[in-house]
Amino acid sequence: MSASATRYLARPARMIQGSLRVPGDKSISHRALMLGAIADGSTGISGFLASEDCLATLAALRSLGVTIERPGETDVRVAGVGRAGLRAPPAALDMGNAGTAMRLSMGLLCGQTFDSTLTGDRSLMRRPMERVAQPLRSMGARIDTLDGRPPVRIHGGSPLSAIDYRMPIASAQVKSALLLAALYAEGTSRITEPAPTRDHTERMLRGFGVAVARDGGSISLAGGARLTGSSVAVPGDFSSAAFFIVAGCLAATRGLIIRGVGVNETRTGLLDMLALMGAEIRVEPHDQPGPEPIADIHVRASALRGIRVPEHLVPLSIDEFPVFFIAAAAARGETLVTGASELRVKESDRLAVMAAGLGQLGIECELLADGIRIQGGAMGGGRIDSHGDHRIAMAFAVASLAARDTIEIDDVANVATSFPGFPALAQAAGLDLAEGA
Ligand code: S3P
Repeated sequence: MSASATRYLARPARMIQGSLRVPGDKSISHRALMLGAIADGSTGISGFLASEDCLATLAALRSLGVTIERPGETDVRVAGVGRAGLRAPPAALDMGNAGTAMRLSMGLLCGQTFDSTLTGDRSLMRRPMERVAQPLRSMGARIDTLDGRPPVRIHGGSPLSAIDYRMPIASAQVKSALLLAALYAEGTSRITEPAPTRDHTERMLRGFGVAVARDGGSISLAGGARLTGSSVAVPGDFSSAAFFIVAGCLAATRGLIIRGVGVNETRTGLLDMLALMGAEIRVEPHDQPGPEPIADIHVRASALRGIRVPEHLVPLSIDEFPVFFIAAAAARGETLVTGASELRVKESDRLAVMAAGLGQLGIECELLADGIRIQGGAMGGGRIDSHGDHRIAMAFAVASLAARDTIEIDDVANVATSFPGFPALAQAAGLDLAEGA
C-alpha cells in the first residue's frame, strides 16, 4: 500500500469473505482529543483513528499548548490543561479536510481569551461555516468568515452567554460546537435538534463528569463545568464498516464479519435502509459496558430491492449515502432518496458527484434538489472522478463487486483522511483493488 496513491483500479471481483476490523471512529477520536485537552488531568485514548483528519485536530491542540503523546499508533495520551489552560497558537490552525475539526474548534475557541484563525484544504475552504458562526455570535462570540466560508477568524476575550437554540438543520457538528461553547458560557444553554443526530459529544461529556440533560430533542448544559480526564476506548468506525457492509450485501456469498464496530443508534440508519432492501445482516452486540455500544456485524449476500428511503433515516446515515447509492444501483427496481440536501455540502456535493459517477457506469439516475432517484441495473466499468472525496472513492471501489468491467477511480489520496489502510483491507476481503499514481 502506498500512502500517496492517487488512483484506484478496481477490477470486477465476485466474492468477498472473512472477518475484519475497521479503524477507530473518526467522530469519537476528534472529540476525545478535544475534551481531553480541556480536562483536568490526563486522558488515555485507545483505538484512536490515526487518520489525516484526526491528526489535524491533534496538531491543532498541540499548537494550542497541549502536550499529546502517542505511545502507539492508536494509543494517545492527552495531558489536559484544564478549561482555561489553552494558549494562543503561533500561527493559523490548519484543519486539512476535516469539517468536524473546524466546526467543533470554532465552539471550543470562541470561549478563550486569545485570537485564532482556522484554515483548511481546498474542499474545506468551500464549506459553509455560518451555520456554526451565527449561533455562536448570538452567544456573544466574535467570529468572521469569508462569505460564510473559511478562513474563520475568532476574536477571543468576549464573554459568552447561554443560548436557547433551535437548530434549523440536523447537524451534529453544529450541536457539538454549541455544546463546547456552552461550557464557557454564563448560564444554562439549551440546544434543540430538529431530528436526532449523532450524540457522541453528549455521551463523552458525561464520561468526563459534565452533567448533560436530554429532554426529547433538547440538550441542556450549564456553563462553568470542569471536565475530569478520563479514558476513552474508541470503537470501530461504523462509517468505515459501511463500505464492507454494502460489499458483503453484494458479494459475501459465504458471509463476512466486521468486528468491534460502534453501533450507536444515531449512526446506524444504513442498517435500517439495507434491511428494507432485503439485506441479510445480523448485529451481535458485545456485552462490555461503556458509553458507546459495540457489536460484530455479520453480512451475507442477498438480492436487494429498491426502496423509498424514509426521511427520518437521513441524518442517521448521513455519511453512508455514497456507498448506499452503490447498493441502490445494484438493487432491482428504483430507489428514491429525498430530504438529503445536506449531502450537497459534504467533502464534495455527494449527490452530484455520485450521480455523475453512476452515470459513467451506465446507471440511470435523476438528480433532485434534495436527493436522487436511482434505477438499479447492470453496472459497466468506467472512469470516476471522486473529486477528492474519500467516501466517493471507497464507494466506487465497492461498486466493482457488481460491475462487469474495471472501474478507474481518480483523486483518491483523501481516503487517508478517514480510512488509512482501506486498500489493503479491501484486498484481504477479496476486492481486486490496485493502487496507482
Ligand atoms: C460529524 C457530523 C456530520 C458528519 C461528519 C461528522 C461529527 O456532519 O457528516 O462526517 O463528527 O459530528 P454534520 O453535522 O454536518 O451533518
